[in-house]
Amino acid sequence: MIELAPSILAADFAHLADQVADATAGGGAVVHLDIMDGHFVPNLTMGPPLVRSLRKATDLPLDCHLMIENADQFIPEFCEAGANWISVHQEACVHLDRTLHLIKDHGCRAGVVINPATPVETLSEVLELADYILVMSVNPGFGAQKFIPGAVHKIRRLARLRAQRGLGYRIEVDGGIDLGTVAEVVRAGAEILVAGNAIFGKGDPKVNARELLKTAVEATLQKV
Ligand code: DX5
Ligand code: ZN
Repeated sequence: MIELAPSILAADFAHLADQVADATAGGGAVVHLDIMDGHFVPNLTMGPPLVRSLRKATDLPLDCHLMIENADQFIPEFCEAGANWISVHQEACVHLDRTLHLIKDHGCRAGVVINPATPVETLSEVLELADYILVMSVNPGFGAQKFIPGAVHKIRRLARLRAQRGLGYRIEVDGGIDLGTVAEVVRAGAEILVAGNAIFGKGDPKVNARELLKTAVEATLQKV
């Protein structure tokens, strides 16, 4: 099932609840939150207090993409604040197996993220544990960057591995997703589509979300 995940990084924080409501009205099904610590990625964004506030403003699942070091230290607080899905970077977690268990033990869905330079093969031993795999199609840290096409073969590979091994993880893609790139990632097998700039960058988030979702759903019909 295709789901659109508006990334609030590109939203107007002074009107966050309204912006999320607009994106939801346009078909947004999951709210994507980019948590950055200024160490793992060169940018600072939001933390548990924002998750707690947003929890009161929407019933949609909150998808927290942790771009932080020491994820284990913060996972319980994010879960308590109302996160539903938590993903951690393969590159930032030395004890990835333990971290995924920690997320699940706190009642959240557990995801693993890979940077553009990280091969799918590095996930071989955790694919069974993960509820979803997030393929970065930009280098993490900022919104509105250009889509890196190498993400497409990684999505395809993850879809193939899932079938071969009879696994159930979902495939999410994040970075540079817009009307020009969404069809290709969907045809490759991406199901959860993160979009920031394409939804909140300009114009009406409701219209933008609706058009992006429509293009994505149409692409599923072209899947080979
Ligand atoms: C980048 C973030 C993305 C970002 C996507 O580090 O993980 O979620 O918000 O923004 P766009 O859709 O503008 O590329
Ligand atoms: Zn993200």
